[in-house]
Amino acid sequence: MRFDIITIFPGIFESLFAAGIIKKAQDKGMIEIQVHNLRDYTADKYRQVDDRPYGGLEGMVFKPEPVFKAVESIRQPGRSLVCLLTPQGELFNSKLAEKLATYRQVVLVCGRYEGVDERVSEYLVDEEISIGDYVLSGGELAAAVVVEAVSRFVPGVVGREESVRHDSFSTGLLDFPQYTRPRDFLGHKVPSVLFSGDHQKIARWRLKMALEKTLAKRPDILKSRKLSEEEKKLLSEIQEERKES
Ligand code: ADE
Repeated sequence: MRFDIITIFPGIFESLFAAGIIKKAQDKGMIEIQVHNLRDYTADKYRQVDDRPYGGLEGMVFKPEPVFKAVESIRQPGRSLVCLLTPQGELFNSKLAEKLATYRQVVLVCGRYEGVDERVSEYLVDEEISIGDYVLSGGELAAAVVVEAVSRFVPGVVGREESVRHDSFSTGLLDFPQYTRPRDFLGHKVPSVLFSGDHQKIARWRLKMALEKTLAKRPDILKSRKLSEEEKKLLSEIQEERKES
């Protein structure tokens, strides 16, 4: 799988992709990341990528020509998807990350300044993506978030497929709590079930904890999720316990 990032600040990505899982995945050839300077696709002496908005407002807007030229020369035939990072886009989540991981090439266009000429969204881009309901100065950090989250769904990138399957959101629930040594930290003890050696009991406890955490912190996720019979049973146990305490 290949990512192509189009930006006016290519330097931002140097250290972001030079460590951890993303670096390893690139070294092993599972993913490829190419960063392109939008200014390389301008035709004028000043390598100008932006201009004043028609209709008279403050600020600058990305011109359509360099963005079209960049995308058209970078986009490969086959299963590729062109995305624009913008606060006006579809909210990025695990499901969208998994969908993007099915493409051979994802082109990520990072917007800047007050915006990008609307014809880019209308006639060039397949998908507009926002990473949250806030405004960043540009799409660069958002593009890095997308690369990292999507890469985790590319087979082999995360050590064992298992770990992706157990991730928060892949199960549709928040993560269950994890503990390591010491067994007693300042009087705060690790739950004894984890020492029981009974794997079924531990799995049930973990599911219950994940449900409890999701109910407390993200009840919206639970509402939109279909529950199994076991989950329903655990959830009513949790609700009973809440009433008692
Ligand atoms: N560019 C500026 N803000 C953004 C956001 N929230 N998500 C994606 N791209 C952006």
